[in-house]
Amino acid sequence: MKGLILAGGMGSRLRPFTNYLNKHLLPVGRYPMIYWPILKLKEAGIKEIFIVTNQQHLSSFIELLGTGDDLAVHIQYGIQKNEGGGIADALMTARNFIKNDRFIAILGDNIFEDSLTGYIEQFHQQENGARVLLKTVPDPKRYGVPQLDEERKRIMSIIEKPLNPPSSYCVTGIYMYDPTVFALIETLQPSERNELEITDVNNLYIEKNQLQYDILQGWWLDAGTHESLLQANLYLLNKSDGI
Ligand code: DAU
Repeated sequence: MKGLILAGGMGSRLRPFTNYLNKHLLPVGRYPMIYWPILKLKEAGIKEIFIVTNQQHLSSFIELLGTGDDLAVHIQYGIQKNEGGGIADALMTARNFIKNDRFIAILGDNIFEDSLTGYIEQFHQQENGARVLLKTVPDPKRYGVPQLDEERKRIMSIIEKPLNPPSSYCVTGIYMYDPTVFALIETLQPSERNELEITDVNNLYIEKNQLQYDILQGWWLDAGTHESLLQANLYLLNKSDGI
């Protein structure tokens, strides 16, 4: 299986830092933020990694990570032409890298404790479709929120940043897809915030009865705000994950 890390976007909630630096290069613990999803993929045995970022920041990533030798992984890069065009738009950048394989995509600002190994094994048991990882959060309005049928272990629908969240879970930025995802993204229209939304992609899988989920057991956060970036730093300050 291949791994994608999405590290584009505008990082608007972390200005002014993101006026001159890509969000995913900001410090989290002893390393730049992007190290943590790379290490999670590596721990799960995924060493073929594709990082999607903006034209403006590509050279910084190459300077930091190169082809991945220092972390014992193999990294390739893609540029999201439509900067801030949405998570689903960023996925499209990786189409030629993924080809006909299944893959896992991680949002580069998601920091988490769990090993991915078990979740990936579950995904391999699926005949087809997609798998997402959920986590309870105190403020679901900030996220994609699933409406669940917990008895049948089904997601009925997902609403992006709902005013009245249908549950206290969020859909974390860890997604597993089969290669049909690219054809689904081609059918999407931009949302009100002018992005191709990953939530719309996941709802298309729900319509096909092909979206499954697990619930993350350990610590998780989206380090995309000043407060959560501080929390991520405190949590990871003394961790090195084997580097
Ligand atoms: O963190 C989980 C949440 O991430 C999900 O619950 C939401 O459903 C999902 O839409 C997303 O919400 P955010 O508002 O946090 O997304 P954000 O715009 O902050 O982008 C998250 C990451 O995706 C960020 O690390 C950079 C990458 N990205 C984002 C956009 C919009 C790209 O690479 N390209 C983009 O165009």
